[in-house]
Amino acid sequence: MDSILVRGGGPLNGQIPIAGAKNACLTLMPATLLSEEPLTLTNAPRLSDIKTMTQLLQSLGAEVTSLQEGKVLAMSSHGLNNPTAHYDIVRKMRASILVLGPMLARDGHAIVSLPGGCAIGARPVDLHLKALEAMGAELDLRDGYVHAKAPLGGLRGGTVDFEFASVGATENAVMAATLAKGTTVLNNAAREPEIVDLVECLRAMGAQIEGEGSSTITIQGVDRLGGATHRVVTDRIELGTYMLAPAICGGEVELLGGKIDLIGAFCEKLDAAGISVTETDKGLKVARKNGRIRAVDVTTEPFPGFPTDLQAQMMALLCTAEGTSVLEEKIFENRFMHAPELMRMGAQIDVQGGTATVTGVDQLRGAPVMATDLRASVSLILAGLAAQGETRVARVYHLDRGYEQVVRKLSGVGADIERVQGE
Ligand code: UD1
Repeated sequence: MDSILVRGGGPLNGQIPIAGAKNACLTLMPATLLSEEPLTLTNAPRLSDIKTMTQLLQSLGAEVTSLQEGKVLAMSSHGLNNPTAHYDIVRKMRASILVLGPMLARDGHAIVSLPGGCAIGARPVDLHLKALEAMGAELDLRDGYVHAKAPLGGLRGGTVDFEFASVGATENAVMAATLAKGTTVLNNAAREPEIVDLVECLRAMGAQIEGEGSSTITIQGVDRLGGATHRVVTDRIELGTYMLAPAICGGEVELLGGKIDLIGAFCEKLDAAGISVTETDKGLKVARKNGRIRAVDVTTEPFPGFPTDLQAQMMALLCTAEGTSVLEEKIFENRFMHAPELMRMGAQIDVQGGTATVTGVDQLRGAPVMATDLRASVSLILAGLAAQGETRVARVYHLDRGYEQVVRKLSGVGADIERVQGE
C-alpha cells in the first residue's frame, strides 16, 4: 500500500485545475440505466470510485467506455441483462444504492445489496426505500439485499416527505420518478449542486422536472428518456480542499473552474478566518492575508450550509489558528477520526460527541499518521503542508477514491509532496 510523504514548507503559488465532481458523476452514471439511448459524460473525474461505479453498471449489462484518459464516459444501457447489484461491488461504495431507483423505474424490478455501515457512521438507506414505496414499489429485505418490485404497469407518481434532506435519497427518488406514471412531489428534498446537475442532465434526456435547487422538486413522469451529452459540474469539495492549501501555507493560488456559489458558506468562514477569496474570470483566487489565522466556529449542515465533506480539512486549518474554534458535526455521527491523527502532529483537539474544540497551536510537527476515510486523508496532507518536518500519510487508497493527481496538483504550486510505495 502506498503512502504520501509531505514536508512542510513555504508559501504556495500558481494554479490548480479542479476536476468534475465525484459525487455528481456517481449519480449521473446510474442515470444511463433509465434510457436505451447513449449517455455521455464529459469532465468526469479519474477516481477509483468512478471505476467501481463503472464495474457495477457493467455487471448489470450496461456498456461503459472510458475515453480521453477517463475524462469522458460513454455509456449505453440498451442491453441490461442482470437485475442484481451484487454485494461484492456494492460493499465497496455506498453510492452503489443509486442504481436502485433507475433499475426499478426502467425494468420494474431490481435486487440491490444493502451497502452496510461505513467508517463515518451507520448511514442507513431507509429514506431511499420510503421514497420508492411512495411510488408504489414493493420492497422485501432479505439476505442483505433489497428485492424491489414496481406495481403492474410501473411505478406511479407519489408525494414524498423526507424527514431529512438526504442527498442520495433525493437522487434515487428523482431518477425513479422520471419514468413513473403521473406526478411526483419531493418535499424537503436536498438542494446540493450535484442534484441540480443531475436534474439538468435528466432534462436533457427528456425528463420533466421543476424546482431543483429548492426544497420541493416536482417530476412529471414521461414514457421514455432519450440520450444526452452532459458536462459534470465542478467538484466543490475538491475546490474547497485546495482553497485551504494556500490558506494554511500562505501564498496565492488560483483554483481553475471554481465558483463562489458552489461554496458560499465555506467562503464566509474563510473570510472570517482572515483568508481572502476573489472571483476571477477563470475561477477563484485564494490568498492568506498577513498574520495568523483567526479561530472560527463551524457547524456542518445540508447545502447551502457548510459541507460535512469539508469539515476535516477545515479542522486542519484551525489547528494553527489564534484562539479556540468549535466544530459541530451535524450530518454524520462519527466523523472526527482525523482528530486523533492531527493530535499526533501536535494539534490540541477535544472531541465530545459531535463537537470538537480546537485550540490553535503555533506550529504543527510532522509525524506518521493514518488515513481513515476519504476527507480525513486529505486533511492530514493539508496539515502536513503546514507542519515542521515530514509527515507520512499511510492508507492512501482512501484518497484515490476522491482526489485525482493530488501529488501533481499540489507539487504544481510548490508543495514538497511525493507518493512512495509501502506504509
Ligand atoms: C452524500 C455524499 C457524501 C456527503 C453526504 C452529505 C455522494 C456519493 N456522497 O452522501 O459525500 O458527505 O451526501 O452531504 O454524493 N441517512 C439516513 N437514511 C437514509 C439516507 C441517509 O438516515 O436513507 C442519514 C445518513 O446516515 C447521514 C445523513 O442522513 O447521517 C446524510 O446522508 P445523505 O445526505 O443521504 O448522504 P449520502 O447521499 O450518503
